[in-house]
This record gives sequence, structure tokens and C-alpha cells, in this order.
Amino acid sequence: MASAPSLAVDRVAAPAQTTRSSEHPASRFDPSRRHSLSRFATLRPGPDGELVADSPTDGRLLSLRNATQVALVLRFLEPQVPDELVAGLDAARREALLDFFGHCHDAGLLVPVDDAGREARHDALAHWEVHDLAFHARSRRGRTPFAVGAISPPTDALEPEPAFKAPAAALSVSLPKGRTASDEPTLTAALEARRSLYRTTPVDLDDLGAFLYRTSRVTAVRTTADGDSLLQRVYPSGGALHALELYVIPTRCRGLDPGVYHYRPREHALVAAAGPGPDVDHLLEEARHGTGRLEDAPSVLLVLSARFRRVARKYQGLSYALVLKEVGAAFQTFYLVATALGLAPCAIGTGNSDRFARALGIDYYTESSVGEFILGGREA
Ligand SMILES: Cc1cc2nc3c(=O)[nH]c(=O)nc-3n(C[C@H](O)[C@H](O)[C@H](O)COP(=O)(O)O)c2cc1C
Repeated sequence: MASAPSLAVDRVAAPAQTTRSSEHPASRFDPSRRHSLSRFATLRPGPDGELVADSPTDGRLLSLRNATQVALVLRFLEPQVPDELVAGLDAARREALLDFFGHCHDAGLLVPVDDAGREARHDALAHWEVHDLAFHARSRRGRTPFAVGAISPPTDALEPEPAFKAPAAALSVSLPKGRTASDEPTLTAALEARRSLYRTTPVDLDDLGAFLYRTSRVTAVRTTADGDSLLQRVYPSGGALHALELYVIPTRCRGLDPGVYHYRPREHALVAAAGPGPDVDHLLEEARHGTGRLEDAPSVLLVLSARFRRVARKYQGLSYALVLKEVGAAFQTFYLVATALGLAPCAIGTGNSDRFARALGIDYYTESSVGEFILGGREA
């Protein structure tokens, strides 16, 4: 039996919990069962010098206020039976400790485990990565203790982020808009014909211009009462904030030298954002490798980045989920327009945000890549 800690009741007394109640009722705490620290538990400093502990499996927040409480939680790095930990203590301490462990259990930090040390809910949770479950639980209503949704007006705690990113250089390439060919498919026909295609034929600048004009230009700008600009594009955006930026990395596009270009959605033009180099080569190679089948670099790699603060001022903890949903809306738009133009579109599942930030000399936390997409030209 594990030795019982000698603990002053006032050091153990119930940790503060958030006043917001979780919509996810806790299961009953059974101190006669073995418990471990959940693999989903996180500990971080709170605003008042406490350590905030929580788990996305449950949603309550627990404030650990002193080293005794932290040490008690850490004992469960090894499975422990709470009843055994408190055996031999006087009634007041026993009650205080079991109450504390009960709070830890209700916050999802302590979870019952079987004799092999496996969490009782192992089968239900096995497919969840820690970061995925935390993201899922915190960006949707239900068990999260935080408000999820828009705040109005946006928080002053964050500096406003302008609707349009300042150009890195003078306008360099103005783009054609393209014309609608008489044999272009209808929307329904484009939807039915849409496929991920793996072609490395060169992309004409006319086609690239038509693609960017139809998918990504800003079609309207509206100024709000507080002076911010809300945008309209052909794909939707939460709160009309449109925080995505689009970069073009051509390898075989007649009329464009290699490098990285930023798409200016109001001017329908490309601005040189970075020259070629090892980081750009790495991005192209990762995209090629991500297809599992291209032998050459993609003719054009498109990278979507997000200027997060523009979304976070209004949507706080919901922001990242909104950004990724917007990437999905942009991807389908890219697919359909590329299909209509006879180009070869394919989404790529992930990319290297550090390489991208380094290639462009941008701050990872201010603007980071969130989506990659490749384009091949028309059939030869
Ligand atoms: C979000 C997303 C990520 C994708 N990632 C990749 C990828 O990394 N590599 C790839 O070759 N295809 C990728 N694809 C394309 C899928 O493999 C493709 O959509 C799927 O095989 C169905 O084929 P279809 O698009 O022709 O209908 C991705 C598609 C989506 C929507």
C-alpha cells in the first residue's frame, strides 16, 4: 500500500473551480478504484499565480493553488487507489483529500484505470490525439467552460489587423482576368467532373490569372461603424473577415520567374514576396511528396496563410476552427474553377509552416500557412 501523505487540511482544501458549469456531467468518483493522471491533462499558469489544470474529456477547470495540491496530482503519474492513499489519516484529512481527488476526477485529470494501467475509457478515446481532442472540445459549445462564438465589439486587448496586408514590394505582375470559354461546363457539370488530378504540364499566365480572378479576388469591400473593412470574395468567410492570404509558387508558369508571389486580391496582381531558395525548394518538394505520385515539382504550388489576429479579435477560441473551415471553402472553390478551366487541381493535406515563415521572413504567430494546393496546366 502506498504511504499516505501527511498533509495539512488547509493546504488540500478544495481547489477553486470555474463558476461556469460543464454541460458534460462527470461520472461518479469511486475512490476504491485505481486512478491515473489522464493523458489528456494539461497544466498551465493561470492569471492569479495558480496552476490551471484541465482535460478536454471533461471541461471543468481546476485551480491548483499550492505545491501540495500539485504534488498530490503528480502522485497519479503512477496508478493509485485514493482510498489507500488516505488510509490511516484522521477523518478531517481523509475527507479533505478525497474531496480534492473528487474535484480532480470531475475535471478529468484523474481517470479510473484497469489492472494493466489502461484508462477505463481507452477504447472510446484511443483514436484521439491530445491536441485534436483539445481543439475539438474547445472550439465547440458543450463541455468547454469558455464562451464560444463572436464577441461584439471585438476585443480591444488585441491590436486591429487591417483587411489588406501591406504589399511587400511595388506591384510587379498585373494579371489577365481571362474570358469565359463557350464550352465551359455548368456548375453542376463542373461538380460532377471534379477530380484531383496529378499533371505537371506548364500553367499559362492567362490561366493562372483567370483562376485567381475567379477564385480569390475581393469582389466588394464594406466599411463598418468602427472603421474596419469587411470583404466579399466568391467563397465565404466567418464574419466576412477574410483573413486568408494567397501565395503563388510557380515552377512551370510561362511569364513568372521562380520564387514566391503574394496575390493582391483588390488589384488582381502578384507582388514578389520572396526569391527562390532552399526553403522554397523544400515547400515544393514536400507538396510533390505529399501527392505520393508526382515525379516533378508541381507546376504551381498555392499556399494559403492566415493572419490570425484579424479573426481572434472577434472569435477568440473559435478562430482557428473558423480559419480551417474557410480553407475548406477555398479549396472547393479552387477545385471547381480549375475544373472549369481545364487545369489539374489537387489539395495537399499539410505543409511546413516554419519553412514558409522563414522563406517569406514573416512571423509564425502573426501569419502562418494553413493550406496547400497544387495546380497543373491543361492537358498537353
Ligand atoms: C483536405 C484535403 C487534403 C488532401 N490532401 C491530399 C494530399 O496530401 N495528397 C494528395 O495526393 N491528395 C490529397 N487530397 C486529395 C484527395 O486524395 C482526393 O480528394 C481523394 O482521393 C478523392 O479523389 P477526388 O478528389 O478525385 O474525388 C486531399 C483532399 C482534401 C480535401
